[in-house]
Amino acid sequence: MSYNLKIGICGWGNVATGLFEQLNQSVDNQPYEIVCIGARRDNPKCDPGDIKIHRDIFDVINEDIDVVVELIGGTETARELISKALNAGKHVITANKAVMYEHGHELINLANQKNSYLLFEAAVAAGTPIIKMLSNDLGANQVSKISGMLNGTTNYILSNMENGVSFEVALEEAKEKGFAEPDPSLDINGTDAAHKIGILASLALNSNLPANKFHIEGIENISAADFKYADEFNLTIKHLAVTKKAGAEIELRSHPVLIEKNSSLGGLSGVRNGIQIDTDLLGEFLIAGSGAGRESTASGLISDLIALSKHVESSPMNYPEFKDIPKIKSFESLDFSYYVYLEVQDQAGVLALVSQIFSENQISIDKIVQKDHLADGKVPVVVFTDLIKESQMQKALKNFSEQSEIYFSKIIRIEN
Ligand code: HSE
Repeated sequence: MSYNLKIGICGWGNVATGLFEQLNQSVDNQPYEIVCIGARRDNPKCDPGDIKIHRDIFDVINEDIDVVVELIGGTETARELISKALNAGKHVITANKAVMYEHGHELINLANQKNSYLLFEAAVAAGTPIIKMLSNDLGANQVSKISGMLNGTTNYILSNMENGVSFEVALEEAKEKGFAEPDPSLDINGTDAAHKIGILASLALNSNLPANKFHIEGIENISAADFKYADEFNLTIKHLAVTKKAGAEIELRSHPVLIEKNSSLGGLSGVRNGIQIDTDLLGEFLIAGSGAGRESTASGLISDLIALSKHVESSPMNYPEFKDIPKIKSFESLDFSYYVYLEVQDQAGVLALVSQIFSENQISIDKIVQKDHLADGKVPVVVFTDLIKESQMQKALKNFSEQSEIYFSKIIRIEN
């Protein structure tokens, strides 16, 4: 049995108009009716027809509706809107990963208190199903690890760079296609993916929302040369966000990685997201699909509307309990192999100096490549290390930065 849901949409940008268009295109007898829209201004790209418009988005809550669909983005106004809607006894559906990450604990607790439902399928991987799947379908499993390529814009940029397109051109294309955030620096600097892995960690491993501080790094320093060196060893570069059980603690991190080209995640290009989940009963489990854009996000939002229409008297999903919240393992104590890119002075003894720094930090070298020449008497030296601690690598980077013969150094962690 399903119920006819009366909907108020808050926000009237790319995602909201995408949802409106998909709902309007749906066949007759769908269990929803858009009652009103909260929009500060019109959107020339979409005509809402006869639907009532409120210029103050908070007025949507006072309408005779069952569910507020929050699509305004951002954190503080969205938090206030969601809280007020839940307090008024409305259900809330949101695609907003930033507000779920920053205030998820408080908002989920409030929804539970008010016997309302807060659904957020589209907040992670847009329409590619993961939130309700983790919460419901994988409920019998113990999850030990989630590795996710969770930002469509970043994957779009990296896979285009791999094919010779510049970072700037690929970013412009991602913006035009509606994949990027209004402030694309959140995509580029790893924050958007960090929000999403934080939400998944909370559902799978009961970590807090927001999580305590963890390592977040973006793709700003990835260059065409890195793809060239990676390719020689059948590797590619992706942005990965990972959470993993580590005894009583959990690992949580969001940064670029070198990964095998032919692996399940390494082979996913364009706007696609990929999420690998390691579980006790299913083993390794992979989900991949479009992770950004208006159609994909509309798919995730409508899946929440469908779930809500069928479960008005019982929860459409299981929420984290936020009890015995595990600590986040120190990033410095994690083990990685590294790709180390150095630009050094082209003169006798410099390679020996590089080797000495690795040796003094007990870092064993797996491979070393030196073949190109740059302008101004510089040469790139690329080193692949064996497995070491992050703290050892950080000490070596500090030592490199203290040498006048070493002009530049950077690392990319290698994901196994
Ligand atoms: N900017 C986000 C991305 C949108 O590129 O993945 C979907 O959350």
